[in-house]
Amino acid sequence: MFNWLKSRFSRNDLGIDLGTANTLVITLDGDTIISEPSVVAVYKGTNEVILGGNGVGDEAYRMLGRTPTNIEALRPLKGGVIADFEITEKMLRYFLRKAQNGTSLMNPRVVISVPSGITTVERRAVINSAERAGARKVYLVDEPMAAALGVGMPVTKAQGSMIVDIGGGTTEVAVLSLSGPVAIKSVKLAGDDLDDAIIDYVRKNHNLQIGPQTAETLKKTIGSATPVGEEKTLEVAGRDTLNLMPRKAVMNSEDIRSALEPALQGIMRAILDCLELAPPEIGSDLLEQGIVVVGGGALLPGLDSYISQGTGLPCSIDDDPLTAVVRGTAKFLEDLDLYAPFLSEGEDQQ
Ligand SMILES: Nc1ncnc2c1ncn2[C@@H]1O[C@H](COP(=O)(O)OP(=O)(O)OP(=O)(O)O)[C@@H](O)[C@H]1O
Ligand SMILES: [Mg+2]
Repeated sequence: MFNWLKSRFSRNDLGIDLGTANTLVITLDGDTIISEPSVVAVYKGTNEVILGGNGVGDEAYRMLGRTPTNIEALRPLKGGVIADFEITEKMLRYFLRKAQNGTSLMNPRVVISVPSGITTVERRAVINSAERAGARKVYLVDEPMAAALGVGMPVTKAQGSMIVDIGGGTTEVAVLSLSGPVAIKSVKLAGDDLDDAIIDYVRKNHNLQIGPQTAETLKKTIGSATPVGEEKTLEVAGRDTLNLMPRKAVMNSEDIRSALEPALQGIMRAILDCLELAPPEIGSDLLEQGIVVVGGGALLPGLDSYISQGTGLPCSIDDDPLTAVVRGTAKFLEDLDLYAPFLSEGEDQQ
């Protein structure tokens, strides 16, 4: 009877990667059921979510930069942490409802990944917003630990593993051994900053003001960290900075590499700092195992060779870098008791 009850309850549990750019939700069986942008469209003034509470995720992303004056499309997380508590709660409420698909009688227990560098107050904000959104119990896990478990690194062994997670708002770098970090570095320099660097570059070098979505498209379609294969071009539209009229310009891969270089150097600095913090004995493990990169930033072509050249270590990109962290949260869900030491938790809610 109790086993039946337990499995019934745990089938209801969810893992959540609450990211600056994307939120992913996974069930215990490892099926990712939600992967949508962390964007919410609200009516200005009331902060009420449009479309009767459904103006969240994909729906809201399409509205970024294109909303009428009475509606605002917002990203409630900045630099990996909650910037708008109320909107985050509404977003989580939508995702939890969608994940449960109206089928569950019980509120779920949830494991949520958070950047390792966040403060106690910021952790509490994540717990509170998930509780208010309908979670019965909230566990927090540090993103690098979740990412390493997600990609199947031998984190419980006395062997060093290095993971780099380049998200939208934060880059987390960690060397893990015996189920814990032996060196960790978290910087607020990631995908969003790469987009900002492209905006600055295009403004300074082409007198064209482009929006963040256009910058992201340039990064994803013609961007690279080092030259890889054929160089590409893309025509983009923006506003002329001199006469303020709409205008088009053609960008090439070289433009985007030049734009990204200073920010990529910053990410490399974080990786090198973390390596310097790691105990010397771990060095031989890393020379053998190399670095695994996850997060959407890992999809930038040529990043593996860029990191490999900068560190002198082998570097590989996970096959599915965007889901690595949420896959890791599902592993925690499998055995919350076993993994208790890595989780911080909120109070039980009824
Ligand atoms: N093909 C690509 N090339 C380069 N960058 C990409 C590509 N695809 C996605 N990205 C970038 O990846 C970032 C989103 O990654 P991810 O979903 O891992 O972030 P997140 O988990 O939401 O953020 P964080 O972990 O910082 O809170 C965005 O900045 C996006 O532009
Ligand atoms: Mg992330």
